[in-house]
Amino acid sequence: MKYLIANWKAYITSHKDAKALFKATQASAEASMSEVIICPPFPFIPDVKQNWDMALGVQDVFWEEKGAYTGEVTLEMLKNLNVEYVILGHSERRNYLGETDEVVNKKVKAALKAGFKVILCVGEKERKEENVIPTIVAEQIRADLDGVPKTKIPNILVAYEPIWAIGTGLSDTPENAHQAALYIRKTIGDMYHTKLGVGIKVLYGGSVNSKNVLDFVNYHGIDGVLVGSASAKKDEFTKMIKMVG
Ligand code: PGA
Repeated sequence: MKYLIANWKAYITSHKDAKALFKATQASAEASMSEVIICPPFPFIPDVKQNWDMALGVQDVFWEEKGAYTGEVTLEMLKNLNVEYVILGHSERRNYLGETDEVVNKKVKAALKAGFKVILCVGEKERKEENVIPTIVAEQIRADLDGVPKTKIPNILVAYEPIWAIGTGLSDTPENAHQAALYIRKTIGDMYHTKLGVGIKVLYGGSVNSKNVLDFVNYHGIDGVLVGSASAKKDEFTKMIKMVG
């Protein structure tokens, strides 16, 4: 089974558009064998939740349960909203909001403890030679998962998202994404146990669209894709779901 994760980012700005995009996505998702996970901005969760009996995710969360934290959305608030997944460590939050590995680590631990599944994003800034996966990927994983108990590892999906490939139209090669997946599995295997490394789901993200989605999902060792801009385009994303099947 493949994962198709839609990260709507802040592309959708009205309830009307959120509902329309959701409706179109749902129709194709229901006919598909893949795990389609929609991650809308917080205000649109009720629009999506009303009819959604498949997986729902959010794009960020705060690590404390409640208290004097102006502007934050906590895990506790999400509990009755059918939210199952949380995207954490996305490079846009690392870059624009200054999220450090320390912050990502607090969020990862809190989300897992509260029973959510985590989609952890890692990736390098600059393009490297083919088949060379920068050590920053392992450094991020080690820091972001620091102190995470091994029993929680099966609740994590890692998304390899080279920053140079996000929103640029320049996707990585499936072979390189495959190498990154091996490297991620080895890192987790070294941290915990080979079996946990082998078993972890690894996704690719970065300029995935209907033209290249099959190249990634059909490549050995890549469990699915995390899709940004193409997931906010109705026709494009439904086409991708149908293609992946
Ligand atoms: P993109 O974004 O598909 O627009 O490149 C991917 C992501 O940031 O998850």
